Amino acid sequence: MYFSKRERKPTAEDFGQLFLPEEAMQPILARSVRTALMEWLTEIWSEEALREVGIGPRRKALFSGKPGTGKTTLAHHLSARLGLPMLAVRPECVISKWVGETGQRIGELFDLAQAGVTLDGATEPVPIVLFIDEFDALSRQRRRSDQAADDSRNEEVNTLLQRLEQYSGFMIAATNYGEHIDQAIWRRFDIHIELELPGQEEREQILARYLSPFGLPRGALCLLGQAFETASPALMRQFCENLKRQIIIGPKLNLDMRKTAVIDRLLTAIAPHPDLGKPRLWSHMSKDDAVKAMPWPLPRIGEFDDDDVVASPQAGGDVVAFTRARGAS
Ligand SMILES: Nc1ncnc2c1ncn2[C@@H]1O[C@H](COP(=O)(O)OP(=O)(O)OP(=O)(O)O)[C@@H](O)[C@H]1O
Ligand SMILES: [Mg+2]
Repeated sequence: MYFSKRERKPTAEDFGQLFLPEEAMQPILARSVRTALMEWLTEIWSEEALREVGIGPRRKALFSGKPGTGKTTLAHHLSARLGLPMLAVRPECVISKWVGETGQRIGELFDLAQAGVTLDGATEPVPIVLFIDEFDALSRQRRRSDQAADDSRNEEVNTLLQRLEQYSGFMIAATNYGEHIDQAIWRRFDIHIELELPGQEEREQILARYLSPFGLPRGALCLLGQAFETASPALMRQFCENLKRQIIIGPKLNLDMRKTAVIDRLLTAIAPHPDLGKPRLWSHMSKDDAVKAMPWPLPRIGEFDDDDVVASPQAGGDVVAFTRARGAS
């Protein structure tokens, strides 16, 4: 989205999207990330006490992690915990193909973020959390070269460095490629959080959250979590939401609603991100033990007992006792 500096002062919308605190969702995180987050929030809430001893809270964080691991979700959640709107900047709104213009936009962005944003219906600007997505695109390593394009690139990185240094608000940058970020820029961030792919415990929680109001007995949930090893939370969310969509819409379209047919249809339609590889479920499809152990029709939370046999007889050929499913894993 391009705007002309001469016509008017740029607004938040020229750089990306405003995320409001009330729209935030709490991500399911590994313990190490939860601890780092809690530490940072406590620091921010203890600003006065820190000032007394001559320091302030850390203000600039870099989140790195594979696609769909929750970088944007976590930044939004954190902003909400601070009660601030978040301006999510898209790099294409800053990077220009015109020599010199990118540096100028970086300046305008930081000026705007520093001044705060006036929300609809308000008269005064409020502070924001500046969130820059795909930060690697803005801060690729400076190269030693005498080409004009590279010179201009280096100048942009220098402008970014300078503005980062001067900026006194909260800022979070996110990247899928931590290694592409210029070392000098990397050092300007005082918090680095790596969002790993979720472990088994987090996978089970993520599946349970996104399957709700449907649910799985503990054993079947455990097997499904295992079948999603190496999956991102985003992929698990997509699977669960598409499964619920199939359950509601499939019968209206006269689709084959046997469990194996539904699962195979679903898995064929969802492509895991190429950078993450395919979780086991995509190799075995509906023959996976996790699918065999899944009760069908999928029960709602409260409709099953954890010690029950997990499949129901309506499923035609899909009757598997939980104990057998566990033994087979
Ligand atoms: N840890 C998590 N817990 C629950 N849901 C999550 C989690 N991480 C991601 N999601 C869900 O997955 C989707 C993608 O998440 P998000 O956009 O935050 O990932 P990202 O790391 O910013 O991805 P990208 O690298 O593509 O920008 C969202 O719908 C979000 O709700
Ligand atoms: Mg993101």
